[in-house]
Amino acid sequence: MSEEPVLPRIRPEIAALPAYRQGRQASADAFKLSSNENPFDPLPGVLDAVRATTAINRYPDATATRLRERLGARYGVSADDIHIGAGSVSLLAQLLLATAGPGDEVVYAWRSFEAYPSLVAVSGATSVQVPLTADARHDLPAMAAAITDRTRLVIVCSPNNPTGPTVGFDEFTAFVEEVPADVLIVLDEAYAEFVTDPDAVEGHRARTLLARPNVVMLRTFSKAYGLAGLRVGYAIGHTRVLDAARSTAIPLAVTAAAEEAALASLAAESELLHRVAVLAERRDALVARLRETGWDVPDAQGNFVWLPAGDRALDVAAAFEEAGLIVRPFAGDGIRISIGEEESIDRIVDVAAAVAPQP
Ligand SMILES: Cc1ncc(COP(=O)(O)O)c(C=O)c1O
Repeated sequence: MSEEPVLPRIRPEIAALPAYRQGRQASADAFKLSSNENPFDPLPGVLDAVRATTAINRYPDATATRLRERLGARYGVSADDIHIGAGSVSLLAQLLLATAGPGDEVVYAWRSFEAYPSLVAVSGATSVQVPLTADARHDLPAMAAAITDRTRLVIVCSPNNPTGPTVGFDEFTAFVEEVPADVLIVLDEAYAEFVTDPDAVEGHRARTLLARPNVVMLRTFSKAYGLAGLRVGYAIGHTRVLDAARSTAIPLAVTAAAEEAALASLAAESELLHRVAVLAERRDALVARLRETGWDVPDAQGNFVWLPAGDRALDVAAAFEEAGLIVRPFAGDGIRISIGEEESIDRIVDVAAAVAPQP
């Protein structure tokens, strides 16, 4: 019998984390609706831009200057107030490392993006999870009340992954006024482009109105722009706050191909808007049909919908999978279904109807 080898000592809070396992890949005839990806091919010009990035024997531009300048012009801010990362999740990790460590607290809504608990644990800080309201929204007054002297960062996710609702513009600005000026607020807007609710917060407008250096917004090219596989996202915030994030970054993580693809995607704005509108309409139609089957689907403003399946989450996900629909279950809570190909929609509604809660 072979003995267990002695392993290097691991920080206990890291050893306690579930090891990362990617959602199941879909078989050839199944629809992968588990990662909020974009079902469309890359935007026009993107593949050509990537193919033209041939000097891969060279390191990329460390700060993605051209992309920062393009985004700066678009938002009317200095390029120094923009920071590019290998996905917006890496920017959140950097902001956490820059602000929070052992003994500090990070406040966020729960349930929200599943990466938050582990990113906080890696920083060494403690998660303070504030339950969503009954209609699956952020409870901003409760989040403000959860802030203590130990709080260093608050994450607000709008639209909230995985439940779907946005945070309102007015409630967000009122919340920011309540948060101490030395606590960083990160507004994670990974799905902002899909939002159709005119009352929803929009990070840039809120930042401009509030002019508070403690508000940083995160955006990504992974979702609406369909560049999930290239890893590129951006933060907009106060230069000195972003400098702190830059100091914690793994150098040169944003590849030249990712920067070029992002630039080409920004140049294809009309096609982007068209695709986003198609997905938002598909989402709204699906929500209406799911509600007709008896599911209490919360307001959906991202490119996904939430079925509050509770204890049945894993069984309901298995029923979808059997029908060739790979969805994302959260045990004991619910199921998130991404808005994918048009052909998946009838199948989703059929399975949802078959496993709908009994009145
Ligand atoms: C709320 C939220 N933030 C951030 C991300 C990460 O996106 P990126 O691909 O830019 O790292 C995701 C991806 O699923 C997300 O749902």
